[in-house]
Amino acid sequence: MTTAVVGRLADFPEGSHKVVRIGRREIGVFNIAGRFYGLPNRCPHQSGPLCEGRRATGTLVADVESDWRPRWDMEGEVIACPWHGMEYHVPTGRCLAHPEITLRRYEVTLDGEDVVVHVGSAPRR
Ligand code: FES
Repeated sequence: MTTAVVGRLADFPEGSHKVVRIGRREIGVFNIAGRFYGLPNRCPHQSGPLCEGRRATGTLVADVESDWRPRWDMEGEVIACPWHGMEYHVPTGRCLAHPEITLRRYEVTLDGEDVVVHVGSAPRR
């Protein structure tokens, strides 16, 4: 397994994300409410730069739970690909429109003030 320090905690304020490069990989590192997540910067649709989308937001959901009325959900946990707008739930990597598609996830941890990406291991959560 490879690990790489990709910045300092102050470089990733809550609610922010940015793309880092580790070798040939581009990985989007997200800080959502103090928890860190890593996703590949490559959209399964047409290989767009998924993690270069604007800030993570939420999405409209209509389901049995809401009696099929639209409600805002997953605030701060959804990234939309800048090319065609497919949305992904950052903590799980799940595509919202096609739940059978799940992105690879990279474990991201803190070592003191260092933000560390673990390449070659999936998060345990
Ligand atoms: S390449 Fe991402 S939505 Fe098309």
